[in-house]
This record gives sequence, structure tokens and C-alpha cells, in this order.
Amino acid sequence: MKAAICYYSATGNTRLAAQFVAKRLSLDAELFDVRDAAPDLSKYDLVAFASPTDWLEEPQQMRAFMGALPRLEGKPSLVIVTHGGMPGRTPANLAKAATSKGLKIIGCVVVRAPDNYPPIVAAGRPKDLLVPTDEELADLGKQLGELKARMEAAASGKEVGPAIVKPSLIFSMLPHISRSRSKKQQGPKSVDEKLCTKCGKCARSCPYSAIALNPLPTFDEAKCWGCWACFNLCPAKAIYTRKLRGKGQYPGPTGRYKEKYGA
Ligand SMILES: Cc1cc2nc3c(=O)[nH]c(=O)nc-3n(C[C@H](O)[C@H](O)[C@H](O)COP(=O)(O)O)c2cc1C
Ligand code: SF4
Ligand code: SF4
Repeated sequence: MKAAICYYSATGNTRLAAQFVAKRLSLDAELFDVRDAAPDLSKYDLVAFASPTDWLEEPQQMRAFMGALPRLEGKPSLVIVTHGGMPGRTPANLAKAATSKGLKIIGCVVVRAPDNYPPIVAAGRPKDLLVPTDEELADLGKQLGELKARMEAAASGKEVGPAIVKPSLIFSMLPHISRSRSKKQQGPKSVDEKLCTKCGKCARSCPYSAIALNPLPTFDEAKCWGCWACFNLCPAKAIYTRKLRGKGQYPGPTGRYKEKYGA
């Protein structure tokens, strides 16, 4: 089955999960970063959307990409979500956005990943080093097994209804967390001039074009959404905040997560 997987991934967890899911489902998949121009999705048998969780919901980039899609009437679609323990409304929001474009949701895969939110990384969550646990691996295997069976049934001509993706009652009741609150938690960013190599990676990685190089990076805090991508991806660990300096960085998948899903 020829599949397009449209993904957003700040630090690589979601990209890795999407590749893993594609392999396990034997999809002939092409991956598209939602920050690039959208491909012609009508050419694919299946369109998947892969997203991390950002304050219990999908990141703005994912929302904007899906909102701008043309109608793709009746095309099978799959939702893949990574999260650090609380996927919240992300799976249901993505399923709703896809359905609103005429896509038919055939499944939803939710993957527990190490948390890349620096205050949590700095606090040290020993469990994240063990992600995925044996139970989480077994759960993912079960999700993929059921999904594969549905896909095979559909391929053999059986009528397979759309998958229902709803948030649990507790997640649906949690309040929306505003950007100003998440930005307040981060506070203004600074650059350690002694560490910065002026490589420009932070400016290239910022999804909101909030960083200019002069030649050291300067931050337009009005444009910044507090996503932490620059902090996480700086190769020199030169970016710091009032609360976090030289600690809390999540540069990308390592350890057990990479070992289990990267192979
Ligand atoms: C700003 C921010 C907010 C986050 N909010 C949540 C959240 O509400 N629930 C959760 O389980 N994980 C949350 N995370 C963790 C990420 O969803 C998780 O680590 C994800 O796998 C990162 O994917 P990526 O490497 O593809 O960007 C958050 C991370 C960041 C940086
Ligand atoms: S990514 Fe880090 S080292 Fe590179 S320019 Fe930005 S702050 Fe400097
Ligand atoms: S400047 Fe703000 S929006 Fe841009 S990458 Fe850094 S934290 Fe994210």
C-alpha cells in the first residue's frame, strides 16, 4: 500500500515512530515534513498524520497543515501520536481534522516516547530512560496487530467501518493551555557567547521564525511560542533560560527508544 506520512517532529521521536509504524504495517511509505510544501496526497492509497503532543494537543504546525489540505473524499487515513505520558486530545483532534477533510480514519496508533520538554528532562524522570517499557512495546504490538488485521480485511473487500478516536473523559475535561502560559514557564532565552559557534541551527529549527542571526542568535520573544526546539537542538548547548542552563536538553532519541524503534 502506497502511503504518505505527513509528520511534525521537533526532536525526532515522532519521525522515528512513524517510520517504525510504516515498517510494521508493511507500508510503501514516503515521509513529508509538514513544514515543507504539501505533496499531492490524492496519489496515495493511505494518508497518515504523525504528531507529537504539545500541551495536550497537536502543535500549531500540524493544525495549520491539516487545515489547509484539500478534500480527500473517502481516502483511508491513519493517525500516529507520540507523547511523554499524556497524549490528551491529540489523537482525537487529528482524527477530527482528517475526517473534516473527507478522509476515513482506519486507525490510531499512540506511542509513548521520552518526554522532550526540558523542565521535565531536567527534573530527571528515570522512567523515560526505560521507554518503551516491555508493557508499552506489547501494547504497541497489539495496536499494530489489530490495525493490520483491519487493513487486510479492507484490502480483501470486506466492509470496515471508520475507527472511532475519542479522548478519555479526563482528557476532554482538561483545560486548553494557552501559549502565554507555556511561554511564561519558559521565560526569555539567552545565548552563551562563549559556547555559541554561530552555526545557525537554532534559527533554521525555529518553527516560528523567531530567531535572527546577528551573527549571534537573537530571539524575538513576541514571535516565540515557547516550543523549546532551539534549546533542544543547539549542538553547543549554548541556549539557556533563567531556570535552565546546561541541563534539560533533549537533542533527539537515544537509548532504549532509539534501540527499539530505530532498528
Ligand atoms: C512544549 C512541549 C509541550 C509538551 N506537552 C506534552 C503533553 O502535554 N503531554 C505529553 O505527554 N507530552 C508532551 N510533550 C512531550 C512530547 O510530546 C514528546 O516528547 C514527543 O515524543 C516529542 O516528539 P518529537 O521528538 O517528534 O518532537 C511536550 C513537549 C514539549 C517540548
Ligand atoms: S544552534 Fe547553538 S551554537 Fe548554533 S547558532 Fe544557535 S545558539 Fe549558536
Ligand atoms: S525561539 Fe521560541 S518558537 Fe523558536 S524554537 Fe526557540 S522556543 Fe521555539
